[in-house]
Amino acid sequence: MPLVHVDPFEPDPAVIERAAELLRAGRLVAFPTETVYGLGANALDPEAVARIYEAKGRPSYNPLIVHVSDAAAARSVVREWNDRAEGLATAFWPGPITLVLPKRAEVPDAVTAGLDTVGVRVPSHPVARALLLAAGIPIAAPSANPSMMVSPTLGAHVEGSLGERVDLIIDAGPTPVGIESTVIDVSHAMPTLLRPGTITVPEIEAVVGPIAIASGAAEGVARASPGMMERHYAPRARLVVVEPADVERVLADERAAGRRVGALLISAPTAIDRSIILVLVPADPAVYAQRLYSALHAFDEAGCEVVVVERVPEGVEWLGVRDRVGRAGR
Ligand code: TXA
Ligand code: MG
Repeated sequence: MPLVHVDPFEPDPAVIERAAELLRAGRLVAFPTETVYGLGANALDPEAVARIYEAKGRPSYNPLIVHVSDAAAARSVVREWNDRAEGLATAFWPGPITLVLPKRAEVPDAVTAGLDTVGVRVPSHPVARALLLAAGIPIAAPSANPSMMVSPTLGAHVEGSLGERVDLIIDAGPTPVGIESTVIDVSHAMPTLLRPGTITVPEIEAVVGPIAIASGAAEGVARASPGMMERHYAPRARLVVVEPADVERVLADERAAGRRVGALLISAPTAIDRSIILVLVPADPAVYAQRLYSALHAFDEAGCEVVVVERVPEGVEWLGVRDRVGRAGR
């Protein structure tokens, strides 16, 4: 298996250099970002980019995010840079936010699925940063999972699902943010949130003023952000979201039906069948985000047929988590 471990803060330069060489040669490298693991390829090489779609089984209409080392490098892949982009880049880069802007001609259509815009972001994970600097090229990278499955937060998730389809997997342990970046289209006067993440709407509005929030686009049409495809990020288990007061009754019913059950709960139950795979998460959106996908992967590995999820709290700071739980449950 092509997986190597590195220190998340001080990755071995020899591993980074090997990965950079592979990327420059048109190969695929999975690497950690602060959000989730990405499946990287040279963003300026259409054949390398085609390998990403092939490895993931990703539909060709779903555009990729281009990762760059800093805002100056971002400006070299976009055609227009404006005050909204400058403000958000200054406030949040390096970090988990992707800006959608008009693309330059050098960015192949394969990256943007034929759109005239490109999503760019500067990741903050030291391994991603080291790799971008060593490679010296923009790296196109979707989450390193088969299309429609849960994003990887561990190197082992990538190895287990994409395995030999990747030339190298750089494993640096769990990704600190845990869900994918906030995606915002800043190509128009009114910015539009395409995918919520851990950077919240109020935090963004404090920088650029009022923003629009795209409603979920219908599958197969108006594909402004396929991150908005309804079922996405889904585990194999059937996921049911229930009100806190109903959790124990639903768990009992599922067990009584003889199913293998997982539970993702915020409030500890008073009594719980010992055969239930229980993951308890605190009522803190950042910690919840960090643990959500690893819990979903663990339920799948345990062979759960159904996963009972306690409804997450209301509130703007929960938007990213609520979105991912909602998509996993449909
Ligand atoms: O945190 C992340 O963003 C991770 C890490 C690896 O950086 N990447 C990630 O990539 O989540 P992916 O491909 O799984 O999701 C990319 C999202 C999709 O929802 C896609 O539609 C949107 O970004 N996107 C990319 N380019 C776009 C564009 N030009 N216009 C609208 N949406 C775009
Ligand atoms: Mg993805």
